[in-house]
Amino acid sequence: MSNSSESILANGYSIFHGTDAWRAFSKFINLGAKTYASVNILVDAQVEQFCLPALIEKAPSLANASIIRIPSGEASKNIDTVIQIWKTLQENGATRHSLLINLGGGVITDTGGFAASTFKRGMDFINIPTTLLGQVDAAIGGKTGIDFLEIKNQVGLIKCPAAVFVFPEYLKTQDHEQLRSGYAEILKYGLITDKQLWESAISNHSDFSNYSESTWRELIQKSLIIKNDIVLKDPEEQGLRKLLNFGHTVGHAIEAHALKNDELPISHGRAVAIGMICEAYISSRVLNLSTAELDQIAQALLRIFEKGDLLIPDDSTLIELMRHDKKNVNSNISFTLLNSIASAEIDQHCETKIISEALNYYRDL
Ligand SMILES: NC(=O)c1ccc[n+]([C@@H]2O[C@H](COP(=O)([O-])OP(=O)(O)OC[C@H]3O[C@@H](n4cnc5c(N)ncnc54)[C@H](O)[C@@H]3O)[C@@H](O)[C@H]2O)c1
Ligand SMILES: [Zn+2]
Repeated sequence: MSNSSESILANGYSIFHGTDAWRAFSKFINLGAKTYASVNILVDAQVEQFCLPALIEKAPSLANASIIRIPSGEASKNIDTVIQIWKTLQENGATRHSLLINLGGGVITDTGGFAASTFKRGMDFINIPTTLLGQVDAAIGGKTGIDFLEIKNQVGLIKCPAAVFVFPEYLKTQDHEQLRSGYAEILKYGLITDKQLWESAISNHSDFSNYSESTWRELIQKSLIIKNDIVLKDPEEQGLRKLLNFGHTVGHAIEAHALKNDELPISHGRAVAIGMICEAYISSRVLNLSTAELDQIAQALLRIFEKGDLLIPDDSTLIELMRHDKKNVNSNISFTLLNSIASAEIDQHCETKIISEALNYYRDL
């Protein structure tokens, strides 16, 4: 199968995202009923309430599947949860010929993907992302894993799902902050490779209430194609895949600081949006990003992610956190930066004084 308006061919699996995705899903489940020894569905409480009923309605045989419930949120993306999933799979009599359906946000697809890939040396899993971040990012690309010793994504492996099904109607029950979090990744895809996507994502934007299912479908499809193209060329993140890290060097440091200090939690997307503004500033100093484009990026991101009362930690704390980022080859802080909108360069470095200037640029906006 090649890429079409209905599906995208990824690394040995398909991502079904079109209006026909439900039909593709019930076909997969009906066929799976003959080939898989048993089916288990991983959920948390919200997803069980908001998303599981539609799944069973479209594929009624799933009413017989075993449901594995885990607590929601980042706090459960750890080895204890994985042990709980392994244990339940074992109790349910799952074999390596069984299927695990990961129904949920990035926490469910990361944790479930890791648990399935390691159970009995690996059973099939499929991802059905129910958050915008999951639909445009976490559910595809093959990265699975958990947090360890309070550091994010420290243990995991790259293992692709058997298929991914994306249903934008699941976004109806997402709260705005969660939608905004995923939206930051769509904006990032535009900034690194697709000016039209960037422009349509910033010009459409209001409070998401006017987004129709087809608007979402179009934004999600464009995002999936961009991420999938990059991942296909560099699945192991040797080079090109680092393009996806734009905004994430500063963004991860802000997130890590909030996590460590029990501060008000900051969504991944909000941290990345601040990171994109700072890294756009660095781009204007290190590469050729024009002042006009820097202004446009900063103003557009501020309109969507208004500043509020979030305080950016002091420079030395953040720079220290950036040094420990696992994206670095040594303690040299690595950035993906922009030459211009839709033209990005990986493996860029700068003096710490420019990082401080970038943080001040954001603080003074
Ligand atoms: N593997 C990757 O390549 C990759 C990429 C990006 C992010 N991630 C990971 O993804 C995780 C974040 O994922 P997330 O932002 O989806 O958060 P999440 O999985 O924690 O979900 C956020 C909340 O939304 C709820 N929820 C999910 N779907 C819902 C729906 N349709 N309606 C109402 N509520 C719903 C969940 O129960 C949860 O409480 C992080 O752990 C991050 O590291 C992984
Ligand atoms: Zn991200």
